[in-house]
Amino acid sequence: MAREFTSVGVVGLGTMGAGIVEVFARNGIDVVAVEISDAALDRGRANLTGSTDRAVAKGKLAEADRDALLGRVTFAVGLDALHSVDLVIEAVPEHLDLKQRIFGELDRVCKPEAILATNTSSLSVTEISVSTTRPNQVIGIHFFNPAPVMKLVEVVRTVVTSADVVADVEALCARLGKVDVTINDRAGFIANALLFGYLNHAVGMFEARYASREDIDAAMKLGCGLPMGPLALMDLIGLDTAYEILDTMYRRGGRDRRHAPVPLLKQMVTAGLLGRKSGRGFYTYERPGSPKVVPDDQTPAASALADGTRGLANGISKVGIVGSGTMATGIIEVFARAGYEVVSVTRGAEKSAQVCEAVKTSLNKGVVRGILSEADRDTALGRINWSATLEHLADVDLVVEAVVEELSVKKALFASLDEICKPGVVLATTTSALPVIELAMATQRPADVVGLHFFNPAPVMPLVEIVRTIRTSAETTATARAVCAALGRTGVLCGDRSGFIVNALLFPYLNDAVRMLEASYSTADDIDHAMKLGCGYPMGPFELLDVVGLDVSLAIQRELYLELREPGFAPAPLLEHLVTAGYLGRKTGRGFRDHTPR
Ligand SMILES: NC(=O)c1ccc[n+]([C@@H]2O[C@H](COP(=O)([O-])OP(=O)(O)OC[C@H]3O[C@@H](n4cnc5c(N)ncnc54)[C@H](O)[C@@H]3O)[C@@H](O)[C@H]2O)c1
Repeated sequence: MAREFTSVGVVGLGTMGAGIVEVFARNGIDVVAVEISDAALDRGRANLTGSTDRAVAKGKLAEADRDALLGRVTFAVGLDALHSVDLVIEAVPEHLDLKQRIFGELDRVCKPEAILATNTSSLSVTEISVSTTRPNQVIGIHFFNPAPVMKLVEVVRTVVTSADVVADVEALCARLGKVDVTINDRAGFIANALLFGYLNHAVGMFEARYASREDIDAAMKLGCGLPMGPLALMDLIGLDTAYEILDTMYRRGGRDRRHAPVPLLKQMVTAGLLGRKSGRGFYTYERPGSPKVVPDDQTPAASALADGTRGLANGISKVGIVGSGTMATGIIEVFARAGYEVVSVTRGAEKSAQVCEAVKTSLNKGVVRGILSEADRDTALGRINWSATLEHLADVDLVVEAVVEELSVKKALFASLDEICKPGVVLATTTSALPVIELAMATQRPADVVGLHFFNPAPVMPLVEIVRTIRTSAETTATARAVCAALGRTGVLCGDRSGFIVNALLFPYLNDAVRMLEASYSTADDIDHAMKLGCGYPMGPFELLDVVGLDVSLAIQRELYLELREPGFAPAPLLEHLVTAGYLGRKTGRGFRDHTPR
């Protein structure tokens, strides 16, 4: 029989604590909510009522249920109020000495059978537990932010946590409507161990002015389908908390440089820019605690885009697209549907016929799904001219190259385009991994060369990375931005570095997941669960790796490692082995999982 929890205590009512109180009270459990001072208690109460009021306003909670929920919560200053609860969850700031002191006090105050749990993200639950006389009743219950929304709970057992306590806590999670993964005590557990290297890397990109905050966030939202971008997520987590988590992970997790907090973080924390909770972090919020972003001095001027769009209407109407693969086919469709006259150039009539068929099939799918009329389909098709000679690009205003990903082939093509195209034409490459500057220097007009990195499938994916080299002119960049806007795509501007924004942030995370599996810390299923339910990712890392292809992923990871020389980016040996074994993912029927039909 699982233990009955009728009342629980929550210590610390900040970002996480207030949310945890809400989770318990919503599920009919009485909560004693404790803070350090009256002022902090008032803030904690406001956190809770703010969240429940928003739930009522959104129609997710009835007013009567909110009142009942709040009626189950008793607020108090000091730990003495926790003498009769069955379980305590501590959610105070991420400092080991503070948590140890609190656990020592809880041990004295709470009844002997009470379970003492920490919501720590990165500290050692074992080290916290030894400050009590009951380490076997100490456990990690790691909720995700925002606690009322995110389904995952990581249950962290130490080597001494008793099996009964683990089972009781797992049953409690089920009662709260949460999905738990039970794991051993390791820095960052599953989700944060995979998340924080990525978040820190994104902050590093922002600090280095590699891309703007809006563009970094838009890239990860639109390119990977994440619920929020990394910088907005840092603001939600709280920069002080994020700093402490990174610092602990760096020290506990083998001094991986990727976890050494980017210097900007420390500066922002020192300056009181803690994110949403203080009203300002990477973004500025309406007021402290508000989720609403308001414009500030870094917000891009709306007029910049509008000007560019005018330039496009005057400047570009005919677009050449070179290539006959998946990307070229998709990009032809995107431009034709947006009203451009398209010249498709392939290596022969047969290839052109295949691409034409593929475009027709895709447009027909649009008609079947009701997103395109038959007339629009026919008009779009009518805008495409099929050719097998580059000479037909003599009068286009923009060329998008999407041929095979080989530097020598692309360089030769750019040299030819330089001879054929009229002056002032923008020459764009869709390369995902090659340096754009190499292609620019194959021409006599490097200022006109830019990267336009579309995502697959191009007709669906809303993101384009605009890659500016050190020679790309401001005019070319503005035109590229305007073209993206006219295509109904979000163009994000970034520098000419391996992986641009999305792949540079995505693949090291996937590689880290492989390393975690390799180390037998957790299973592919639990890791996938953790990222989907804890962080709202549309797919777990192993699902995504099998879809993308392990060979493709390995090649990208190798490029990143070679260019950035970051030891943490070295491809995971398990990934190499699977590729060598021919387990490439869905396309071969087997990758991390077996996809063969049974
Ligand atoms: N922020 C996140 O996204 C997130 C997610 C999961 C877990 N966590 C973990 O949850 C814990 C709390 O983080 P947070 O982001 O909610 O921090 P926070 O700074 O938002 O809140 C901490 C609260 O603890 C209170 N407090 C400090 N000392 C106290 C004491 N002696 N007694 C009672 N209350 C005290 C503070 O007044 C504050 O309200 C940390 O261990 C963190 O790693 C955070």
